[in-house]
Amino acid sequence: MAEPKVNELMEKVVSLCKRRGFVYQSSEIYGGINGFWDYGPLGAELKRNVKDLWWTSMTRRRDDVVGLEATIIMHPQIWRASGHVDTFSDPMADCLLTRKRFRADQIDPQSGTAYHYSGARDAETGKMVAEAYAVLLPAGKPPESARKVATQYYQARGLKQVELEGERTEKVENSQRFNPENGSLLTEPRPFNLMFKTYVGPVADEDNVAYLRPETAQAIFAQFKNVLETSRQKVPFGIAQVGKAFRNEVTPRNFTFRSREFEQMELEFFIPPDEAVEALTGSVAKPAAPGHPGAPQRNWGWQLWHQYWVEERIRFYDSIGLPRTSLEEYWQKPDELAHYARATVDLLFKFPFGTQELEGIAARSDFDLSQHERCSGKSQGVFDEELRTAWGKLDEATRQRLSDSYFQHRQKYLLKAGVPAEQAARDAKEDAEGLAKGQYIPHVIEPSAGVDRLILGLLTNAYSEVTTTDDKGKTETRVILRFHPKVAPIKVGVFPLLKNKPELVAKAREVNELLRAHMMSFYDDAGAIGRRYARQDEAGTPFCVTIDFDTLGETPELKDTVTLRYRDDGRQERMPISALLGFLLERIR
Ligand code: GAP
Repeated sequence: MAEPKVNELMEKVVSLCKRRGFVYQSSEIYGGINGFWDYGPLGAELKRNVKDLWWTSMTRRRDDVVGLEATIIMHPQIWRASGHVDTFSDPMADCLLTRKRFRADQIDPQSGTAYHYSGARDAETGKMVAEAYAVLLPAGKPPESARKVATQYYQARGLKQVELEGERTEKVENSQRFNPENGSLLTEPRPFNLMFKTYVGPVADEDNVAYLRPETAQAIFAQFKNVLETSRQKVPFGIAQVGKAFRNEVTPRNFTFRSREFEQMELEFFIPPDEAVEALTGSVAKPAAPGHPGAPQRNWGWQLWHQYWVEERIRFYDSIGLPRTSLEEYWQKPDELAHYARATVDLLFKFPFGTQELEGIAARSDFDLSQHERCSGKSQGVFDEELRTAWGKLDEATRQRLSDSYFQHRQKYLLKAGVPAEQAARDAKEDAEGLAKGQYIPHVIEPSAGVDRLILGLLTNAYSEVTTTDDKGKTETRVILRFHPKVAPIKVGVFPLLKNKPELVAKAREVNELLRAHMMSFYDDAGAIGRRYARQDEAGTPFCVTIDFDTLGETPELKDTVTLRYRDDGRQERMPISALLGFLLERIR
């Protein structure tokens, strides 16, 4: 069994996705649109399965998480409070020659000799362009190459017979200032806000600007109070949402990995601050060992909750066919963390183009709800009667210590948010007094996953090729997508052995009807049975069922049995039709 080489794998997966209807380029008949992808029949099923599995494991199988389905366009103030209007940007630089746009921080650092020019003159007309320009050449390239590029640059500025002026050279190490494709100097990097803007209502002016949401998370924060009041949940609890997000990425790349329209599956899990946990339970439990910490406990502080969610998410991936060994945990370093985050773990997957982020699990402190409280003027705090009672029973020293600690945390947040020092001290004091009365703003642990990245991970992980040689020495290479049965788009293929025998066809249709009420089954009677198996292998269908003459009773003891074939090893076994549904359901759920 051969696995394709890494550098070929992406090409093969992309081509399979188009050929079998997993993913198509959006608007392909008009030449496509960069960064947008459509899911075809198999892709749509695969995606639906993934989202359903996430939703089921995150909400329906838990008592402490509820769901939300919010709008894509929300009040623009939400994106000011969250910081997206001011800071959700990537550094962007354009090639001065071709105008091609790059994400400045993602350009491969280059070394070599930079050829600088102070300007150029037209030898015929004497016209001068006094604009400095430069071209980077890797070691060993002749200066003519730089002069050629520079000539093109000045030609584009109206000179015909270009005479370059003031050439000087400079050794350059690990620079991101030049276009890696042609050596041309780039513009200075400048921030580019990634939110898509639109206008709400008939007047397209600044008063009516709105944004397509760049993440699903903010709607959860904005609806926190409504959900709390209507769901009968109590902190700690979570709100989950699956939905579209939009980012005007400077350089969408790697197929669906970095798209401009994509889907997220996000959970905001609200927990009490550690000071409240200590007041309630007498201590704050912290991680003692790596791995899953077990069932949640009342005395868990934010670190244990964070560890818990990292481990829950790894278990989820494992359960749908991305084994723990295909993932890496990357703990962001202090200087990489957002200023409000206490810890962030990126779950990385080994994509064919590199090990890259699949999901981030962030401990975001109480930043989000605090921001919405400040910006909306509506309280986002919760009241816990038990905390109020517990606080009353604390000794004075513990009260003081917890109160000081909470005061300092709140003061730090307020100062960072730009609140003047005196007011920040006043407000933080009020918050600390509130804690003593059982009030606090919940902290948040946020596991945030991308649906499309997960689909891409599942596809590349499942892709394999099998080469077989027949009796005549002819070799054939076939693709098998080894999806976990839970995510596989089609769960079972149902075939009559022969298409021209009405009794076989009728029985196969009957079996198909039995199964399709519970799962995606696919009836196929076209071509040789081997070809039909091969088509399902390529679609990732884990099981196929064939109805033959024994099913009809040709061998009496085999009446009403079928051949069940396993995709991964081609094994076949006989199974009563009456046992089929139970057998399959057990494996696909
Ligand atoms: N609320 C937190 C948040 O949005 P993020 O790391 O920016 O965090 C979370 O995004 C996840 O969304 C990523 O781990 C990734 O799986 C997915 N994602 C982000 N940008 C994406 C893009 N341009 N295309 C596809 N998926 C993307």
